Amino acid sequence: MKRVTEFVPGVHYVGANDRTKHRFEGLWPLPHGVSYNAYLIEDEKVALVDTIDAAFTERLLSSVREVIGDRPVDYLIINHMEPDHSASIHAVRQAWPDITIVGNAKTLQMVEGFYGVDVGCGVGAGAAGAAGGSGAGLGSKTSANSLIVKDGDTLSLGARTLQFHLIPMVHWPETMVTYVAAEGLVFSGDAFGTFGTLDGGVTDAQLDTAHYRDEMVRYYSNIVGKYGVPVQNALRKLASLPPLRTVCPTHGPVWTGEFPQVLDLYDRMSRYEPLEKGVVIAYGSMYGNTAQTAERLARELAARGVRRVVMHDLSSSHASFVLRDVFKFSALVIGSPTYNMHLYPPVQALVDDIELRGVPSRVFACFGGFTWAGAAVKKLSEFADRMGWEQVAPPVEVKQGYSLEKTAAIAAVAEAVAAKM
Ligand code: FEO
Repeated sequence: MKRVTEFVPGVHYVGANDRTKHRFEGLWPLPHGVSYNAYLIEDEKVALVDTIDAAFTERLLSSVREVIGDRPVDYLIINHMEPDHSASIHAVRQAWPDITIVGNAKTLQMVEGFYGVDVGCGVGAGAAGAAGGSGAGLGSKTSANSLIVKDGDTLSLGARTLQFHLIPMVHWPETMVTYVAAEGLVFSGDAFGTFGTLDGGVTDAQLDTAHYRDEMVRYYSNIVGKYGVPVQNALRKLASLPPLRTVCPTHGPVWTGEFPQVLDLYDRMSRYEPLEKGVVIAYGSMYGNTAQTAERLARELAARGVRRVVMHDLSSSHASFVLRDVFKFSALVIGSPTYNMHLYPPVQALVDDIELRGVPSRVFACFGGFTWAGAAVKKLSEFADRMGWEQVAPPVEVKQGYSLEKTAAIAAVAEAVAAKM
């Protein structure tokens, strides 16, 4: 019977689905779970590409043994060292003691630093770099069954040759991809990855992929979103390769026929370009007055033909979904009560998230409330100034209870935002 997990002849999926973790990186909710993807290449030599989260180490080992039986794994290729992919390195080396661990200089330092696995480079800057080879070709063997590779280096497995391309800061400094020319295939690390488990199939051709798009935007905006320039550099590097037929990330589906759409999405996200026309209204509210301003604004937008209005009460919506929508939509209106002469804390957290990721432009307006002295609108205006965003209308500021007297000012905000859509 055909094996779904051998998605290219000789290339096997040996990852695992996680449906029990509550928060990825301790931060991001996982309503659809997450997959940790690892891959096995069967050739004259056997190579494992990345490992998986510590909770699934035994499953990784058994999946590999199911494919190769008693054959040893000759190489472990490490594209990315974040522990959701590297935590099984120690167990893999114990299972196949003669395995050669392959990574760039920064990678091998992290292997020793995180796990105490001796790869012969010594922890600390400079040691591995001094051992590295130069230019394309086989990397440098170190003294402890490891191989340091540089950008463009190659490694033959027999019928296939692997080529390593460094893509630093997508989203860690050691990140690289591994290219297999014979199959037009690349193991891309976190690039093109998404939250969401692989339910049944492994490739986009085997799965209904509709729900992955939003989760890819959430994954990207929260985890990679600060690194737009390095992602653009990585995309340029991938574009220099012959056309890719199969892209294997460390999370989510293996991309084949849908890769052009995924590539376009990544290109737009890393240029911070909105993906859709729409207005996000993100607000905090303690007693409902700022919420009433938000509701009125949404109605006024709808009255002007804006059909895509996305509301987030920041005390209820997890920040990762709000940030996803900031990346996704073209306009953002933020509302906040004044709290301790500052922004309401969940609003402050949102503006910090946006500022940290350097989103360069959005259609922007704001509103706020106060009881005896107002600060929220001033703070939101200062945020817009720091971002270099133009406010399209004067802020609406409500003292104490919401009042219908504010309707005209709110309508003016809606008018200005709608005009920019
Ligand atoms: Fe999936 Fe950056 O680790």
